[in-house]
Parts: sequence; structure tokens; C-alpha cells
Amino acid sequence: MRIKISKITENNIDTILTVMGWIKSSRTSKNFSFIELNDGSCFNSLQIIIDANINNYENIITKLSTGASISVAGKLVKSPGKEQSFELQAQTIEILGECDPEKYPLQKKKHSFEFLREIAHLRARTNTFGAVARVRSALAFATHQFFQDNGFLYIHTPIITAADCEGAGEMFKVTTLDLEKLPKTDKNNVDYTKDFFEKPAFLTVSGQLEGETYACALSDIYTFGPTFRAENSNTSRHLAEFWMIEPEMAFADIYNNMDCAENYIKYCLKYVLEKCPQDMNFFNKFIKPGIIDKLNNVINSPFERLEYTKAIDILKKAPKKFEYNVEWGTDLQSEHERYLAEEYFKKPVILYNYPAHIKAFYMRQNDDGKTVAAMDILVEGIGEIIGGSQREERLDILEAKMDKMGLDKNSYWWYLELRKYGSVKHAGFGLGFERLIQFVTGMENIRDVIAYPRFPGHCDF
Ligand code: 4AD
Ligand code: MG
Repeated sequence: MRIKISKITENNIDTILTVMGWIKSSRTSKNFSFIELNDGSCFNSLQIIIDANINNYENIITKLSTGASISVAGKLVKSPGKEQSFELQAQTIEILGECDPEKYPLQKKKHSFEFLREIAHLRARTNTFGAVARVRSALAFATHQFFQDNGFLYIHTPIITAADCEGAGEMFKVTTLDLEKLPKTDKNNVDYTKDFFEKPAFLTVSGQLEGETYACALSDIYTFGPTFRAENSNTSRHLAEFWMIEPEMAFADIYNNMDCAENYIKYCLKYVLEKCPQDMNFFNKFIKPGIIDKLNNVINSPFERLEYTKAIDILKKAPKKFEYNVEWGTDLQSEHERYLAEEYFKKPVILYNYPAHIKAFYMRQNDDGKTVAAMDILVEGIGEIIGGSQREERLDILEAKMDKMGLDKNSYWWYLELRKYGSVKHAGFGLGFERLIQFVTGMENIRDVIAYPRFPGHCDF
């Protein structure tokens, strides 16, 4: 029976094992050969020693090229080498799939991340992308563990929706209409009654609004799903398709929200450091030196909590020259967010009580009449990793706000009903999953922490 490389321990020494995987590298000679075999179950490869006296040696070694898939049965022995504590002495080798060394795009040399994006179907075989995939999986598991342990229910909110949660109009339209021959109304507008849903429909930018309806029945819920934004942002932190975790808590205010977010992030970091040591050592050595210490610092100190107004004071007094000026009322750019987290406080910052006019319609108005109970969490290297708020639970204030922002109240009728029937204070946030992975791994570009990145002009694979 096959054993995965991650499961092999010292206890298997002197037993016969069968492993299967892809050759990372090989050194062949007339008398014996070495193979590094990787099956992706863990960072480390297994060293295989092949003695020339195995069956069919001459023929086999011609096929042991990087990328080929093989099945090996042999005896696990203590390794004399420093690199690994054990190795497999091959007894039989079966070539499962050959790999032409002349044509295989993944040569042994170091490839740029830009090049690897063009062969995204093969890049998971590299050290970096294998490690990213394992850390991503661990973070997803940690997310469920954290929320489930804290009594949150996992809710699946719709992916196709008619509601624009963020009111920013950055939505992909979903239609079955023939774009070459659009049906028109008398007034020459597109006749959406002829469309699949008989009205305009979109890919969701957030599950929050639907999430709120479940929180206002079940107390604590979270969503974890794909999210779509048609914003034309060509940055290292934006994708057109990304994954978001959105918890929503009834009977909670902005401070409960901050506590939950801070505990959640710390839980995730601890989880990955504990469960993915080989991968994290790789990131620490080759991708972002010092990242493990940095994450431990984040785990071990409280996040800074700072009101927007105070942040503006700090930014205005900063010795640093910013590309964009800041004044009270302007939205912060990534350079400002990063200055606060990286240079000024040197730790994650929870910025809250933002000016109302730069934030979404659903955020709860503060007593000063100018600010809302919004909170963003800013971290080193990335800027905003979380955006959230206490929600406006007062019907009259919410309606007035929607009128002021020019939103069509009719299309949010169900959302408004929550405020009519047993309204309660509630709060929640959204964490960009890929930004969390960037933060944990130190990977610079968000396009390299999701298997198949979608961004303007790119929808390959
Ligand atoms: O700040 P945002 O837009 O907040 C919301 O969508 C709220 N409805 C969340 C809530 O309160 N339930 O997005 C939340 C987070 C951001 O902080 C960022 O980490 C991530 O989602 N995000 C993106 N990640 C990758 N690519 C993009 N284009 C992103 N837009 C937002
Ligand atoms: Mg935001």
C-alpha cells in the first residue's frame, strides 16, 4: 500500500514502503543513483537510493528525469546524510509517467514568479507554490476551527445576487441575454425582464447583507466563499475573484467586533506556525527573512486601536513624504495604511470611527453625526486586511442614509425589514483570505497565493 511522504517517520525504519510522486531532481551514474521524490503531502522530498543491481537498472535510469512520476518500493533506512534523517533504498521502481527533460517547462534553475504564472498548471510542483497551497489549506481549516469553536454557524450566502452590498458598483453582471442582440424596452433600455432572472443580476461582492439576516436569527454566523469585484485595480493586493471570510454577530458592537477579528487573526497565525513548520521555515529562509519572528510578535502583543481622526494627526505630522495628501475626510491610501502599521506602530492597527461619507451605507452612525462605527485592520506589507463595522440597526437613520446616497430602497426591502422586526445591534467584518495568506507567507503578489488568479485582462486556465 502506498504511504504519503508526510506520514513517514523514524518508526518506519527497516520496513518496506511504497511511495509515489514526482521527481524533483535526480543524479544518475553507472553504479547507483539518487532521486529527490516529492508527492506534495509535505515540503520535504524523500531521498531514494537506487543501486545498480536492481532489475532493469540501465533502462530505468534513462527515464528518471525531473518531472517524471514514479512508484518506488523499498526499505527505509537511517540516512548517513545531514539533509535528511532517513532515505529509501529502492527495490523496485515503476515509471508511471515519463517526462521529456528537453520540453519540461520546470527546469531545475530558479524561475521568476512572473514566468510561473504563465504555467500556473505546473507551478504547484515548485517548492514555493506547494508551500503556499499547504498554508492556504491550513488557514482555511483554522478559519473553520476558530469560528466553529466559538459557536458560529457556517452559512452559504448566494454567489449570484441582485444586491450591491458595498454600493460601489463594481459588480460583474450575470446574464444569458445575447449581447449582440439585446432586447429593448419602449424607452430603448435593455429589457431585463427577458433575461434569465427577469432582472439584472450580478456576482456577489460580499455575502454580508444576507449574512446579517442569518445573524439576526441565529446569533453568530460566518461565511467563507468566493467574492467578485470588477474593479480595475492592477495591484499586488487586488484580485477580481478572491475569497472572503465574513463573520456577523448579533448583540455585538464595534468593540466586540475588534476583539473577534484580533483573536481570529492571532488564532490563524498560531495554527500555521504549529501545523506547517517545514513550509514556514521555507518562507522564513527564502521568501521573507524574519517572517516567523514577525508573526510571533503579532501573536504576542495587542493590536493598536486608533480612531481615524487621531490617525490623520499622525499622518500629517509624519516625517515621510506621501504621494497622496491626507486631510480629515479623505480615504486612506495603502501608503498611509502601511506607514501606520509598518513604521509608526510596528504592529497591526485597528483603525475605527471613519468619516461617514467615505464608507458604505450600512455602517452605524456615531453620535457625533460625522463618523460611523467602521473598523479596518491594517498590517505590515499589505495595508487593509480586514474591513468591518457595527451595522446601522435604526430604521429611520438607515433609510435617511440610503436616500442621501441615492440607493434604491425598494431593492433592499428585505434588508430594511430586519430593522422593523426585532432589530438588534450587530456587527461583523470581512477578511480577504488571499491577503491573510500574503501576510502569513510574506508572498509579495496576491496573484501568487491563489491557484488561478483573475485580474484585469487575465482569465487563463
Ligand atoms: O472592505 P471590504 O470591501 O468590506 C466588505 O466587503 C464588507 N462587506 C465586509 C463585512 O463587513 N462583512 O472587503 C473586505 C476585505 C478587505 O479588507 C480586503 O482584505 C478584501 O476583503 N478585499 C480584497 N481582496 C482581494 N482583492 C480585492 N479586490 C479585494 N477587495 C477587498
Ligand atoms: Mg474596505
